[in-house]
Amino acid sequence: MSFTLPDLPYAYEALGPYMSRETLEYHHDKHHLAYVNNGNNALKGTEWEGKPLEEIVKGSFGKNPAVFNNAGQHFNHIHFWKWMKPNGGGAIPGELEKALKESFGSVDKAKEDLIQAGTTQFGSGWAWLAVKGGKIEAMKTPNGENPLVHGGTPILGVDVWEHSYYIDYRNRRPDYLKAWVDHLINWEYVAELFGKK
Ligand SMILES: [Fe+2]
Repeated sequence: MSFTLPDLPYAYEALGPYMSRETLEYHHDKHHLAYVNNGNNALKGTEWEGKPLEEIVKGSFGKNPAVFNNAGQHFNHIHFWKWMKPNGGGAIPGELEKALKESFGSVDKAKEDLIQAGTTQFGSGWAWLAVKGGKIEAMKTPNGENPLVHGGTPILGVDVWEHSYYIDYRNRRPDYLKAWVDHLINWEYVAELFGKK
């Protein structure tokens, strides 16, 4: 089973004005596709060829950077497209809202901590809400890493590589993060992943 590029779950212009068609064309059609192709090439002849994606991500971390970087980014982007929706960022399903309040004190604090993690991630990487030790935590990781390789389960992640925001926001990463949280998050998909925990 090799990596394949999933279709976007919405039209290229559906996330405007918060994320443009041009950004999605580059990000999905070029960047994600490169992780798929480079990942398939890197996997050839390794022990991870044909294995499930999560197993490849966890198993190759710290062992095979070419496999890990591309598999990690493939995993992250598959979910990233689903963590967004047109007119997102609205009401949070009840069980998840309750868990966010328990872990952070309030939903606003959870959002604030996610934005803070993304703002302070130096260079390329991701900011996350992840389930770890029975609680939801905000985390940040460099490059293609994600909570799976740090003892957590990601339920929400935002890409803070420049390719995710530079066309629309130039260097204003905090503005991108605020718009992303307020207008793009698909909380139903976050709740679905939280429910599987
Ligand atoms: Fe990306």
